[in-house]
Amino acid sequence: MSKRIDVNDLNVYYGNFLAVEGVNINIEPRSVTAFIGPSGCGKTTFLRTLNRMHEVTPGASVKGEVLLDGEDLYGAGVDPVTVRTKVGMVFQRPNPFPTMSIRDNVLAGVKLNNKRISKSDASALVEKSLRGANLWNEVKDRLDKPGSGLSGGQQQRLCIARAIAVQPEVILMDEPCSALDPISTLAVEDLINELKSDFTVVIVTHNMQQAARVSEKTAFFNIAGTGKPGKLIEYAETTTIFNNPSVKATEDYVSGRFG
Ligand SMILES: Nc1ncnc2c1ncn2[C@@H]1O[C@H](COP(=O)(O)OP(=O)(O)OP(=O)(O)O)[C@@H](O)[C@H]1O
Ligand SMILES: [Mg+2]
Repeated sequence: MSKRIDVNDLNVYYGNFLAVEGVNINIEPRSVTAFIGPSGCGKTTFLRTLNRMHEVTPGASVKGEVLLDGEDLYGAGVDPVTVRTKVGMVFQRPNPFPTMSIRDNVLAGVKLNNKRISKSDASALVEKSLRGANLWNEVKDRLDKPGSGLSGGQQQRLCIARAIAVQPEVILMDEPCSALDPISTLAVEDLINELKSDFTVVIVTHNMQQAARVSEKTAFFNIAGTGKPGKLIEYAETTTIFNNPSVKATEDYVSGRFG
């Protein structure tokens, strides 16, 4: 299921504004990759190009290639909706549908894709996805209760269950723990660690310790100044980025000297 991502010379625009310039990166399947860098350097913008969410913003566009196991997501005739079923996303704030039950929240993405699913298949999928998201034991007795009745950390794991229910190949996470307390954060980090046996995981984080804990590789993005494009500065094994980076800006950032 898990697929590799190869990005070649990607420029990302909002109208005429070049927000991210010249990204080349190769992301291995069954791995966790962290994106770090100061605010405004384009981490979210770049992440959203990996499942064609970027172009949902009016006037937004990209130039370059994003290959999923060799197939260009931006190739002629590729349907962005299909892309988003292969490359799922989890957002910064847990966003379950508040009035929908826990069960229906898990199934929401599957139903959105117009997949027909029998009642027993649906039950099995709900259990499998909630187990996969480390949430099953906490909610199995209240699947018909609204998703909004869960704690923040549980809601975020519910959103992860919803993302994995559609059986994607890649899961993108944009600061998935920034609204969570430390205990919930650890629960989500444990989960990320397990997800990588089935999925390619890419996570944006401002938390250096988190990047060090969960990822094998880290990409450091930076920006030269306001109005300038963000760039990928250095991409290497996470231990290298944190202990022995080759670029001075990377070292300054990971050691807390700026950003
Ligand atoms: N919808 C938009 N329209 C125009 N410009 C945008 C839009 N969204 C983001 N930008 C600009 O693109 C650049 C990169 O923003 P982005 O949100 O990707 O940064 P980021 O690295 O995710 O920052 P943060 O760490 O604060 O989340 C910024 O200059 C930002 O102002
Ligand atoms: Mg962001």
